[in-house]
Amino acid sequence: MVEIRSRFAVDDAALSALHARAFGSRDTHTSPWRARLERHSVAWVGAVDGDELVGFVHAVGDGGAHAFVLDTVVDPAYQRRGIGLALVGRLRGDVASVGVTWLHVDFEPHLAAFYAACGFRDTSAGLLRLDDDGPETSTSV
Ligand SMILES: CC(C)(COP(=O)(O)OP(=O)(O)OC[C@H]1O[C@@H](n2cnc3c(N)ncnc32)[C@H](O)[C@@H]1OP(=O)(O)O)[C@@H](O)C(=O)NCCC(=O)NCCS
Repeated sequence: MVEIRSRFAVDDAALSALHARAFGSRDTHTSPWRARLERHSVAWVGAVDGDELVGFVHAVGDGGAHAFVLDTVVDPAYQRRGIGLALVGRLRGDVASVGVTWLHVDFEPHLAAFYAACGFRDTSAGLLRLDDDGPETSTSV
């Protein structure tokens, strides 16, 4: 039985391992999730099976009407059972309850059906990677 929990007590090693499993990464690095979530996230939600973390999502806000969904992950062994939908559904209610009225997300094209099932409608958006060699910026215009 998988339980959906809002603002659960985050174990950095467990969440890092789940993230790596979901994204098919061999990275064994532990990220400081708990501190980052407490500092920057409006809401976070976990899916737990017994003691095991099998799903996660959070939203970072602007302090006002907008928040952005990040790091939606479900353990590959638990996917396609409705856990992703349940996580985002809970997150949506949690952020709405603290005054967020616009919830944003971006994703790769193959996940369009998932986010449509979560209730997101299509929009245009932009994304800029800042640790690459991009075009040089100039201060004169
Ligand atoms: C995206 C992800 C969180 C979905 O979790 P999930 O628990 O498997 O999703 P659900 O079972 O709630 O899916 C609900 C519906 O969304 C759609 N859907 C989910 N995953 C899909 C996929 N990979 N491809 C196409 N449609 C998908 C389906 O319509 C599905 O309903 P169905 O199973 O009855 O056909 C999960 O696949 C995952 O962790 N992926 C790897 C990490 C990742 O890419 N995260 C997204 C970051 S933006």
